[in-house]
Amino acid sequence: MVRITSRKNVRILLLGDRGVGKTSLILSLVSEEFPEDVPPKAEEITIPADVTPEMVPTHIVDYSAVEQSDDQLLEEIRRAHVICLVYSVEDERTLMRITTHWLPLLRDAIPHSRCPIILVGNKEDLIEESTVDAAQDIMEEYPEIESFVECSAKSLKNISEMFYYAQKAVLHPTAPIYISEKQM
Ligand code: GTP
Ligand code: MG
Repeated sequence: MVRITSRKNVRILLLGDRGVGKTSLILSLVSEEFPEDVPPKAEEITIPADVTPEMVPTHIVDYSAVEQSDDQLLEEIRRAHVICLVYSVEDERTLMRITTHWLPLLRDAIPHSRCPIILVGNKEDLIEESTVDAAQDIMEEYPEIESFVECSAKSLKNISEMFYYAQKAVLHPTAPIYISEKQM
């Protein structure tokens, strides 16, 4: 089957608390090895169409609270086609902040949003028990979350999968991603 899509590129933004591994995830994807020393923010990266699974040029954008203002954060949120919302599976506070801070912020920033979100539990190499149950509860409450993946920038587990899910969420969206209560 040939799918027709109007998107000529995909812009993926990584968000999440400090230290969850956003920059490491991007650099691990690009270099296929875990970077020991990471800058606060990775440069914007463009993956050429022919090396992406969906054959669409893909921009990957990092966020750093130390380098960017709240206005710059909002600007990047509005430019993004899909957001990877990252927490660390070994730091429960970063998981709690997904629902207390990040998801409400995204709903405010992009009302009636059709911007899909991929929920990403990073540092999977550090734990034995999955955080999938907690993630499922969050996904029930926030239908704008398109999919969930546990991964590790360190062991490289599920890194390319995470970016593939993000691409797929933009290029092959499922039915309404998020309809606010007011609209219903
Ligand atoms: P900010 O730029 O401050 O917002 O943080 P960040 O989200 O970009 O995190 P960063 O990539 O700087 O990683 C923070 C720390 O976690 C670093 O010491 C990384 O080496 C470490 N780290 C990142 N990913 C993993 C992982 O998958 N496993 C383990 N064990 N450590 C990781
Ligand atoms: Mg960083």
